[in-house]
Amino acid sequence: YVIGIDLGTSAVKAIMVSRSGMVIDEASRVYPLYQEQPGYREQQPEDWFQGTMDAVSELIQKTGVQPEEVEGLSYSGQMHGLVLLDDRGEVLRPAILWNDTRTSDECRDIEERLGERLLDVARNRALEGFTLPKLLWVKQHEPDIWQQAKVFLLPKDYVRYRMTGQLGLDLSDAAGTLLLNIVEQRWSEEIAEANGIPTAMLPPLVESAADTGTLLPHVAERMGLHERVRVFAGGADNACGAIGAGIIKPCTAMCSIGTSGVVLAYEERVDADYRGRLHYFNHSIPDGYYVMGVTLAAGYSMQWFRDAFASEMSFEELLAGIERVPPGAGGLLFTPYLAGERTPHADANIRASFIGLDSKHTRTQVARAVMEGVTFSLCESLDMLRDSGKVIQEVIAIGGGAKNEAWLQMQADIFGLDVVRLEREQGPAMGAAIIAAYGCGWFESMEEAVASFVKQAGRWHPDPERQLIYRGLYGIYKQIYQATKALNE
Ligand code: XUL
Repeated sequence: YVIGIDLGTSAVKAIMVSRSGMVIDEASRVYPLYQEQPGYREQQPEDWFQGTMDAVSELIQKTGVQPEEVEGLSYSGQMHGLVLLDDRGEVLRPAILWNDTRTSDECRDIEERLGERLLDVARNRALEGFTLPKLLWVKQHEPDIWQQAKVFLLPKDYVRYRMTGQLGLDLSDAAGTLLLNIVEQRWSEEIAEANGIPTAMLPPLVESAADTGTLLPHVAERMGLHERVRVFAGGADNACGAIGAGIIKPCTAMCSIGTSGVVLAYEERVDADYRGRLHYFNHSIPDGYYVMGVTLAAGYSMQWFRDAFASEMSFEELLAGIERVPPGAGGLLFTPYLAGERTPHADANIRASFIGLDSKHTRTQVARAVMEGVTFSLCESLDMLRDSGKVIQEVIAIGGGAKNEAWLQMQADIFGLDVVRLEREQGPAMGAAIIAAYGCGWFESMEEAVASFVKQAGRWHPDPERQLIYRGLYGIYKQIYQATKALNE
């Protein structure tokens, strides 16, 4: 067996996978998210570590798998979050997460210092979520902590560090720091120096499938695993989600709707130039890349709506009958900018809107409008990929958005493409398990591992009539950003 661990923003999930790709069972633990001030989003790295150990130990107990039967494990993790360690390896402050938006000033400074070089080297624009602006924020606002900072890690790499004692960062996650030379696959001294980040703070770089040692004895014991379990570096959750969805070759794209929403496509061209309008990151397969757009509040928009207006209802209850509401939700449009946006508008200040609200609108119609708004936003990322000349034949849907059939049909109608659901989809945790399976030598290549583990289960075709209605609405949707921007500037 192998174990795939996905360190998410709301919870950590661990899955046990057999040689035939069967998911034997899963276990998870939630942990708190701290929002001490507007725009702040922090978590305690200790919660991640304890939660991961508890989830794995529950997994071992409930599956009855013997310690020596688990050959390897690997990780997927929420990207960009800053964990600062002192010279004893102790955490200096809570981690500042990917969805924290306090760093607008630092982003402006980075852009001013580096200009187009940032795009040439790091292939991405300075966005509030990325790690370099967070480092600069701590340097500026918490000089005492900065003085003590010896090295930084990203979330899953911190958990791996606690489990193995080894410091390291894999390329797919390093790509989201803004400190990596993406194409040369090494830290950029130029970017670090221009921003006053000592290169000694940058941890060693490894491939996702790199063997990063074995478990520390007390960790192995606590989880009920053997000390000789091989631990592989793992990757960013989007890279692992892509592997788990089979996005490892040209013409394939994925739409993941979790807290945030992601439209992602494999990128075979190292010279493809999106000028930072889409994120361009190293994949978790050697020399592979992917490009992606992010809707910050995707599933989060649905969650907000339920919590604010239907807190007594489960999602199933809230979404019951949503497929019977005609496209357009009775003339209601929603933009999902509840927490600012990344793609296509890199704008931390923009806020969401409902346009066309009628006193007769029902809760189900409004819920449908929220779902449609999220899907329109994801379609804007998909269009950027298509406009760049990419041929996309189908979209693999994963995450919460793939659980609801009305949402799958809506994605097909709005994207104008076939949308495919996977069998036993496990999201990024499956990508982590595939990395571990490949690392253990079960397969000759990652492609072989993916072919064996990832299976399609259902397909939704666009309906021409609904597609046409959505085209019209999408045209109006796209004007809302400019028209409402001044409200929150
Ligand atoms: C990607 C991003 C999010 C997180 C979510 O750039 O910030 O998708 O990785 O965990």
